[in-house]
Amino acid sequence: MMARISLAGITAAIIALISACDPGTRADGDTTSASPSVSTAGTADAPPASIPPRVTPTFPSSWRFPTGARASFAPKAMIASNSSAATDAGAEILRRGGNAIDAAVAVGFALAVSYPEAGNLGGGGYMVIRKADGTVATLDYREVAPLAATRDMYVDASGTLTGGSVVGHLASGVPGAVAGMTEALRAHGTMALADVLAPAIRLAESGVVVDSALSASLGNAKDLISRFSGGTVWLPNGQAPPVGTVIRQPALARTLRLIAAKGADGFYRGETANSIVAEMRRGKGIITNADLEVYKPKWRDPLRTTYRGYTLLTMPPSSSGGITISETLNILETFDGVPAYGTAAWFHRLASAYQLAFIDRNAKLADPDFVQVPIVELTSKDYARTLASKIRPDSALRTEAVTGATREGTQTTHYSVVDSLGNAVATTTTINELYGSGVFIPGAGIFMNNEMDDFTSQPGTPNLFGLVQGEQNAIAPGKRMLSAMSPTIVLDLAGDVLLVLGSRGGPRIISSTSQVILNVIDHHMTLADAMSAPRIHHQALPDTLRHERDGLTPEVHRALTDTGHRLATYPSPGLVMAVMRVRDGWQGMIDPRSFGKAAGH
Ligand code: DON
Repeated sequence: MMARISLAGITAAIIALISACDPGTRADGDTTSASPSVSTAGTADAPPASIPPRVTPTFPSSWRFPTGARASFAPKAMIASNSSAATDAGAEILRRGGNAIDAAVAVGFALAVSYPEAGNLGGGGYMVIRKADGTVATLDYREVAPLAATRDMYVDASGTLTGGSVVGHLASGVPGAVAGMTEALRAHGTMALADVLAPAIRLAESGVVVDSALSASLGNAKDLISRFSGGTVWLPNGQAPPVGTVIRQPALARTLRLIAAKGADGFYRGETANSIVAEMRRGKGIITNADLEVYKPKWRDPLRTTYRGYTLLTMPPSSSGGITISETLNILETFDGVPAYGTAAWFHRLASAYQLAFIDRNAKLADPDFVQVPIVELTSKDYARTLASKIRPDSALRTEAVTGATREGTQTTHYSVVDSLGNAVATTTTINELYGSGVFIPGAGIFMNNEMDDFTSQPGTPNLFGLVQGEQNAIAPGKRMLSAMSPTIVLDLAGDVLLVLGSRGGPRIISSTSQVILNVIDHHMTLADAMSAPRIHHQALPDTLRHERDGLTPEVHRALTDTGHRLATYPSPGLVMAVMRVRDGWQGMIDPRSFGKAAGH
């Protein structure tokens, strides 16, 4: 018997097709550099006294990552990011006496230089800050729809989506990254903007050394990049640069110097803004100088929820991440006891909780400046009990069946920073898909986002992440498109920072970030095991439980199928970057499915 859940207003069907392998993922799980700056030996895994001892999980025998791996360890401070050069930029700022916010901003600007597929000035993001004095702040620097945007701008006369939300000049929201990072620094940093920008400027001028991951990423995106002018920088001779090539970015260096001299005005007004607008005009885009001049990041009231005595500090809307994670965890908290990690009972319960939370996510969440978002109700423990009562131990819930096909895209990046004073920063930033809309601004040296695709271009029709969203997330001028980004800080039972984490991967951000949290809290795993454990994903539509290849034992696969779940593998879950407190310091870890560097001092 299957319980039936209807999702109002959704009429199209989704066939679970995942065609695009996350270009950030290496099939061999190789990590470019996760080398610790301090020895990982000895007691580095010992948890702080405020959480229970760690337990080694059992992974399926064919699973590609072993248990017992080691995260990087450092006694005082830690940074984890997708780019070795960006982590080094942050470490340099920490060494020079900067705090975690100074370092995070340095990492963000350096990612814009060294990690063009996702690091950006042409996109937006979210930052969660928890300072040593207990202050919590959440900054929303999500892109907004241009002033000339209209509800149906991606639907043609025959009612068909044009694809304009994905590739080309019309796909971009007004970038928020520079306004966000400069505002975070102004409010909570200690160093001058020019000083935190210095490593990024140096990197842009002296050159980024292409590693195997960057070379492969550029190779995969060659067709898109070549459609616009990004190849002039990133595809020398029209080809992805081989490993070891040094890529200098004088235009980007100039943009960064303008920002260093003028603050956000160096981007939103004058030369840089004019370059963006000129390229928009050339390609029939709609971003104007007025759009850039009025863009403002927003400090939001942090979302604070609890899970089994731990506290989550996370992003409220315009991201759906915090609410959807909180709703999922609240549902799980209503059950007595926790099935062992890896069992069908665990994955069934988890998938069902995601499914219920995503039904709300897809129908009720959007920019709170434009629509009413029932944050208190959705994150209440009472509401979670109502939802949890729909979950039966022996039967899968059924999201209303719909038709249609989806593809899934990639490219976002998360970084976590803690400093020796106890300040912590979790930041996720994106241009949405790999190299955003493909559009490159030659005068500014930046790729533009294709974040407009995160709006509901047409209610009931899936976006590139297969998300079928509702009317409340419809396009309107100045509105922020709903996001799944979930930068999160978890406090332990004593109220001290335990985890600083987040992920990339569209809706898979939510399931991946929360599973690392659950693996640490419920399954008492070390950080490395929590990150290495096979993950699942369910986003209500398509009504499919996604799992990693070899991530379920055959018995568990069969049991979940018998329960009524439609199972499908996915090429990659979200890719998590995390920092966790241990007894004698901090561990940092790059998702073993990804690459980057965790290092500290
Ligand atoms: O904001 C969002 O939810 C998406 N634009 C994030 C895209 C993403 O994570 C792609 N990454 N791999």
